[in-house]
Amino acid sequence: MTRESPASAASEPARGERPLSGPRSGGGEPGEATREDRGQASPDAPAGNTDHWTDLLRRVVGLTAEDLRGPELFGRIADLVARTTEADVCFVHVVDASAGDLVLAGATPPFEHLPGTIRLKLGEGIAGWVAEQGEPALVSDKWDDPRYVYIPALRGEDFTSMVSVPLLRERKRVIGVMNLHSRRAGHFGDEQVRHLQEVADLVAGIAQTAILYERLATKEVELSRFAARTIELQELDRRRLAGEIHDGISQPLVSAWYHLRAARASAPEGTVTDELVAIETLVSDALDEARRATIGLRPAVLDDLGLAAGLRSLAAGLSGIEVELDVDVDLEKRSPSLAPHVETAVYRVAQEALQNVQKHACSTLVRILLHRRAGGLELSVIDDGLGFDAPEDPKPTAYGLEGMRERATLLGARLEVRSLPGRGTTVRLLVPTSRLFETAEPPPQP
Ligand SMILES: Nc1ncnc2c1ncn2[C@@H]1O[C@H](COP(=O)(O)OP(=O)(O)O)[C@@H](O)[C@H]1O
Ligand SMILES: [Mg+2]
Repeated sequence: MTRESPASAASEPARGERPLSGPRSGGGEPGEATREDRGQASPDAPAGNTDHWTDLLRRVVGLTAEDLRGPELFGRIADLVARTTEADVCFVHVVDASAGDLVLAGATPPFEHLPGTIRLKLGEGIAGWVAEQGEPALVSDKWDDPRYVYIPALRGEDFTSMVSVPLLRERKRVIGVMNLHSRRAGHFGDEQVRHLQEVADLVAGIAQTAILYERLATKEVELSRFAARTIELQELDRRRLAGEIHDGISQPLVSAWYHLRAARASAPEGTVTDELVAIETLVSDALDEARRATIGLRPAVLDDLGLAAGLRSLAAGLSGIEVELDVDVDLEKRSPSLAPHVETAVYRVAQEALQNVQKHACSTLVRILLHRRAGGLELSVIDDGLGFDAPEDPKPTAYGLEGMRERATLLGARLEVRSLPGRGTTVRLLVPTSRLFETAEPPPQP
């Protein structure tokens, strides 16, 4: 990140000072593209010809139809404005309210690679002054202007005159600044400033939409990562719990069972043996229960074989209920493969819905459907059992439905629970397509 700071390098000139080295005017640095190099037509009368300005406004509006974002959008705007005004370069900066500064958002060549890397404090430099005051600045020779701050990366030594206009929303809120530079002193006039402000007002609307879109897209990615991380942590917790149950409960129960067997074998026939058999049965039941709990807590099948296999194993765990499982072929093949946290969350919702069928529905048939729809991935668990009326006050111990809702919210999914007494229950989860696959970057580590 480069900051506009006169003290950033010993060799740089102080605020407002002309640098001693580097060409100030004329041909510029070798390899630097100028307006002419880019093969742009020179407008006949850039400052005074209203047609050019109307044409510019029309072209800027036209950009909105191209679905451009970020530096590409602002770069194209900068390019159009530079052409009309015959400026050598144009920069569009936008306000980053969270950092309290201006960040370069778009630039004409040869600066098109700099957006995002140049920041100016509000109030600092001519652009900073314009952002703070909300009014344009027309500068015929910036070396005579005390507000000017030299930024090496922007090659201030190559340009002399400049105009800076604010990007205003609701006529007063500054959301950015547009700067035009020329090698020639006094290149810009009052007439141009007036026209440029009209263009800037239009650009401000476009910029606002682009900024909001970007913010929303960032939030969406953050949310998706948060969901993935939270589900991952929940699963880690469950695995830890499964380990604790195994080591702290199952293992001691197994030893207790062997001790009981040994005790029974050496005990004299009679009353004690009956008691020992009863205790053995209790220990054995407790062991089964603990095993069931650990299997439910750690769905290894999901990691190894995927969601379809996971659902099949859940179905196999039901007793006394006929199951129909209908899964799309693509999902069976895991192509394309869903994000692991999505598989886990869908599996958990199915698991809870099926536990409810087993516990409450007295159902003879349950259907489990997993399909890709136009809107996303749809899971349905449909039973033909007793159904229920959604209670006004759910039991404080009933976390199942609540848990499903929380998982759905985390995934940005929709959960519907439809039930009528005597008519069975349908649980449907729809995960939108935008959330089904891995985000571009891995979730941040804690
Ligand atoms: N498939 C179903 N069939 C009948 N009743 C159900 C079904 N699913 C949920 N219920 C009812 O909704 C209540 C809340 O369910 P849940 O939140 O999972 O809590 P829990 O299963 O611990 O009771 C259940 O107690 C039950 O009365
Ligand atoms: Mg339940």
